Amino acid sequence: MADPSGQIVVRDMTSEVQGKAYPDYVAELKAKFGEEAGLRAAVGGDFIATGVLEEQLLRSLGLRDDSVVVDVGCGSGRLAYQLRRYPGLRYLGTDVVPELMAYAKKLCGRSDWRFEPASGVGLPAESGSADFVCFFSVITHLPHVHSYRYLQEAYRVLKPGGCVVLSFLEFRLASHWIVFTDTVNTPGQHLNQFVEREAIRAWAKAIGFAVEHLFDGDRPHIPLEQDLVWPDGTVMRGRGNLGQSVAVLRKPDVSQARKLEAPATGDDGATARVTAATPGSPFVALSTRGFVGGDDAVLINGFQLAAAASVVVRVSGRRLVCHGLRNTLARSHVRLHDAQGRVIAENSGWALGSPAEQEAAHAFLAKVGTEPLDETGEEAVILRHLEPGAYTVVVAGDAGTTGLVHIEIVAG
Ligand SMILES: C[S@@+](CC[C@H](N)C(=O)[O-])C[C@H]1O[C@@H](n2cnc3c(N)ncnc32)[C@H](O)[C@@H]1O
Repeated sequence: MADPSGQIVVRDMTSEVQGKAYPDYVAELKAKFGEEAGLRAAVGGDFIATGVLEEQLLRSLGLRDDSVVVDVGCGSGRLAYQLRRYPGLRYLGTDVVPELMAYAKKLCGRSDWRFEPASGVGLPAESGSADFVCFFSVITHLPHVHSYRYLQEAYRVLKPGGCVVLSFLEFRLASHWIVFTDTVNTPGQHLNQFVEREAIRAWAKAIGFAVEHLFDGDRPHIPLEQDLVWPDGTVMRGRGNLGQSVAVLRKPDVSQARKLEAPATGDDGATARVTAATPGSPFVALSTRGFVGGDDAVLINGFQLAAAASVVVRVSGRRLVCHGLRNTLARSHVRLHDAQGRVIAENSGWALGSPAEQEAAHAFLAKVGTEPLDETGEEAVILRHLEPGAYTVVVAGDAGTTGLVHIEIVAG
């Protein structure tokens, strides 16, 4: 900055840039709105509607009555209040503002749940004990170093196969940009920290998480069991969104896994779960779950064959329903490409191919000892004999459909 004489004036802006500490922010809200309204307002956004969205998001990711949930920065209990209905669910909430947690604890009336003050970036939970570690609107108030350390700690606390669900603000969305300009123009607020997707991907990679989903905050993506009516009359029907973007990071379950070497073929944002090979058999199976969105948000799986082999590619949304997942893909469009990018096989809808192809696929899957074809026929299957080389499977939604799919590639 230059003063009127043209000289550069340097002043310490550290406290301004870091923003107001959250406890001070809460104290200010209480003074302004009164005790209860202040504590509810401290979490930002509507208390009930946002809590419902958070809970429904976890449900769509497999939340069950016996799940173990760690809610970092639980605030005044927006999520906990919705989770109180799950009698078998085990819950730990942490926060830097004890009053918010005291309010949450009272509101939930769950004497079996723990609410613990946050100390540094540690989580007072045993290693490998949690199914979910949530950061709803929390890393939006933390410096990146703290967020990264929290994610490392979350990785420790999660069971294999468990996931981190975090919401974040990013510059690419116009609705988030407004938050940024507001922060710029209103010095002294608490910190509104933005984070880029590349940073989340880099953090996940360094820690060992698979990036399962990155959902745009301004697009409905959370499956809703019933209409959600906001106090201003807005109705979310079918799907809703939090406003903030959401990342789902999965801790891989490598207990029965064997790695299949796959070339980096694209940014699919999927969890790769690799199933074990049958002892003594040369086959490998690559099993992946992921979300197929609209436009170019396709799922891409690359694989490399060291020797000629028969390969079955099968894609199913229905299989995931058995795992308690909703929001599955209704119709898929599957393409198998060779290393030159040529389409060598294609399947739309849930076609199993010709009867001869089906029979051959049945025989092949029986030979390698993996699951048989889905009898309802809601599975897309491609069977080809392939020469050694690199191949890519691309899965899109057919006729504009979106949702979760399971992709399996079996070679033998
Ligand atoms: C916007 S509120 C969100 C609360 C809650 N997650 C929800 O969605 O309703 C942010 C919360 O993060 C808490 N917080 C801020 N810094 C934290 C830290 N370092 N560790 C844990 N919680 C923190 C704040 O006290 C506040 O309750």
